[in-house]
Amino acid sequence: MSLDVSSRQFQQWIKQAGQLVSDFYERKEEGSVFAGQSPTEVQELLEESLPEKAESINNLLDETGEKILSSITNNIGPRYYGYITGGGNQVAVLAEMIKASLNQNNLKWHSSPVSTELERLVMRWVAEFIGYPTSSAGVLLSGGSVANFNCLAVARKIKAPADISEEGVYGSRPMTVYVSEEGHSSFDKAMDMLGLGKSYLRKIPVDEQMRIDPEQLEKQVQKDKNRGLEPICAIAVAGTTNSGAVDDLQAVAEICQKHGLWYHVDAAYGGPAAKVEGVSELFEGIEQADSVVVNPHKWMYVPFEAGGVLVKNPEHLRRTFSTIPDYLKSDQQNGGRTDLMEYNLPLTKEFKALKVWMTLKAYGADRIRSEIARDIGKAKYLAELVEEHEQLELIAHGSLSIVCFRYSPDGLDETSLNELNDRIIDEIETDGRVFLTGTKIHGKTALRACFINHRTENDDIDFLRDVVLEIGSGLNS
Ligand SMILES: Cc1ncc(COP(=O)(O)O)c(C=O)c1O
Repeated sequence: MSLDVSSRQFQQWIKQAGQLVSDFYERKEEGSVFAGQSPTEVQELLEESLPEKAESINNLLDETGEKILSSITNNIGPRYYGYITGGGNQVAVLAEMIKASLNQNNLKWHSSPVSTELERLVMRWVAEFIGYPTSSAGVLLSGGSVANFNCLAVARKIKAPADISEEGVYGSRPMTVYVSEEGHSSFDKAMDMLGLGKSYLRKIPVDEQMRIDPEQLEKQVQKDKNRGLEPICAIAVAGTTNSGAVDDLQAVAEICQKHGLWYHVDAAYGGPAAKVEGVSELFEGIEQADSVVVNPHKWMYVPFEAGGVLVKNPEHLRRTFSTIPDYLKSDQQNGGRTDLMEYNLPLTKEFKALKVWMTLKAYGADRIRSEIARDIGKAKYLAELVEEHEQLELIAHGSLSIVCFRYSPDGLDETSLNELNDRIIDEIETDGRVFLTGTKIHGKTALRACFINHRTENDDIDFLRDVVLEIGSGLNS
């Protein structure tokens, strides 16, 4: 007997689960953003031995409502400003349910023709959305870190001075990769995992606006060449994690061209803004990249997980990842079929494209761009509130939707300001009314607010300012 139930019963479950979801959406503006439990409290809430016997699904759904929903961090609500975390969208909730029910696996074309072709189509749309050639090849992975790893693996394969597939990197001169000091930590991880070594990731200084200094980049490339090293790749960041700065893409492109380097653009966060009026000129040069990472799960309002890879020459992806053992051969290698397992590290891969496809069709590219423009406006609004208030100080505000600031009452030196703002960050978490993370900008502790949630409104931003001021003055009194 299968695990299934009758369709009537199944419909009743779906209805009950749907109720749970819509109740949650109705309450998304209420309560704390952070549940404020300790690890022990969450463990105790969940703790039980392996269930040997079945539980009724009605009870299980009730229990999910009680245990899981009471402990989530409410990042779909409008007062979550941490990291680079979107709030998803309701149409994608439907897509995720449909996806799970279909259980497609697009390791090979014939294992899921529709999932394979939809992934290719949505990545073509993503390319078009950001102004990248649609003749490129794209795949959807779990996120930007994995996508950056994927692209660095391609860069290493294509630019390595020897064939590293069989012999590894042992016989090669050390290969160097370049990114600004503000580059994402996924590159450090990738250098480590790819055997290139973290010390060969050259961190290039940034200017006042936190953008890579192209002169220093070129100097470092030349210096490494003179030392007999093998520069293979330079990375431009189109929307840094810390402050939303966009590197001079054209300048990095030219240096790559001149020195024969792979040109990668990490647009995991900022990429979707590339065609948004007012900031689009910052992205000129993205179209020249050999590879781009852009995450639908950040600024395209798609729920986790969907990180996108685009590689200009599809053959480069295939050369990097194609390995076909006997059990993955099929008789129909030709006839225009694309097996996505040849384009990325995973073999089994879920039907991620469905939620991206449904999101783009449901809202349209135009509407998504106008939400992005609105998010940029919200960041400007916070920057203005900060500048207007004598006890707040603006630390960094790139051109996109991240604002770094600090509580800065008179009479405190830099060390005390850093200590006070570190305490404010901790206290904001404990307080739970808003969720904000911190960072360091030029050595200063900053409160960092990121706006990629379409549900946030100016009232919420006023509230954020008030909470920071209340907590700041409480800690400083
Ligand atoms: C610029 C940049 N690159 C890469 C990543 C990593 O993306 P993910 O969190 O999806 O792994 C991030 C995450 O915030 C990012 O801001």
